[in-house]
Amino acid sequence: MKIIMLGAPGAGKGTQAKMIAEKYMIPHISTGDIFRANIKEGTELGKQAKEYMDKGQLVPDSLTVNLLLDRVAKDDCKNGYVLDGFPRTIPQAEVLDEALSKLGENIDYAIDVDVPDENIINRMSGRRACVTCGATYHLKHIPPKKEGICDKCGSELILRDDDKPETVKKRLDVYHEQTQPLIDYYTNKGILKTVDGTKDMLEVFGDIVSILGN
Ligand code: AP5
Ligand code: MG
Repeated sequence: MKIIMLGAPGAGKGTQAKMIAEKYMIPHISTGDIFRANIKEGTELGKQAKEYMDKGQLVPDSLTVNLLLDRVAKDDCKNGYVLDGFPRTIPQAEVLDEALSKLGENIDYAIDVDVPDENIINRMSGRRACVTCGATYHLKHIPPKKEGICDKCGSELILRDDDKPETVKKRLDVYHEQTQPLIDYYTNKGILKTVDGTKDMLEVFGDIVSILGN
């Protein structure tokens, strides 16, 4: 099963994608997580991506597209995957469709996690992320068992550099301009499913499971 997660920054794409990956035993592929891992390791890709990410802009396709296509060509993707944060523009979606159609494959579902802008800023300022395993928490809604420490791997939790309110605002603008058109793109392909992302995270997951099947 090949799934794309759509939705504004902070809508809960990563939170839901991790649960989907676990239940359906497919890899969770987040381009944002890949960039952040590269930033942490101090790679050349990380240095270049950080310049854009810190400003709330999209990382250029020249750094993004091949990275993603190489990742989905790996052996662990044979039974599908859940993409989180890719595609983010119509050109990225077209490149992905082209690459898949050469293999006689296609995306099965594009799931839009719908959350109004008003809810987003509040969510982002409360988010804490694990730099080591990528798990995400929320100070109020989904707190870690021990303050500042990841439940899953024991590493330190941080506030992402791009979660400052002014950067979040820019990311929302970029989302509306460049990513939201994908909702029409996948509606026209007949694979768009929308879930209400303002519900509790387990309720949202329940709605997703009723779409994907047990
Ligand atoms: P990326 O890492 O993909 O960030 P994003 O799209 O802005 O989304 P987020 O990860 O911020 O939010 P999310 O929807 O995953 O929400 P989460 O589950 O964490 O990208 C970062 C940057 O990398 C981009 O700005 C860009 O520069 C670059 N980039 C990445 N991919 C790219 C691409 N393809 N092309 C070009 N550039 C690219 O949840 C948010 C918070 O809410 C958490 O605290 C969570 O615990 C909480 N929460 C989740 N669900 C609920 C719920 N139901 N109720 C209450 N709280 C909840
Ligand atoms: Mg995310």
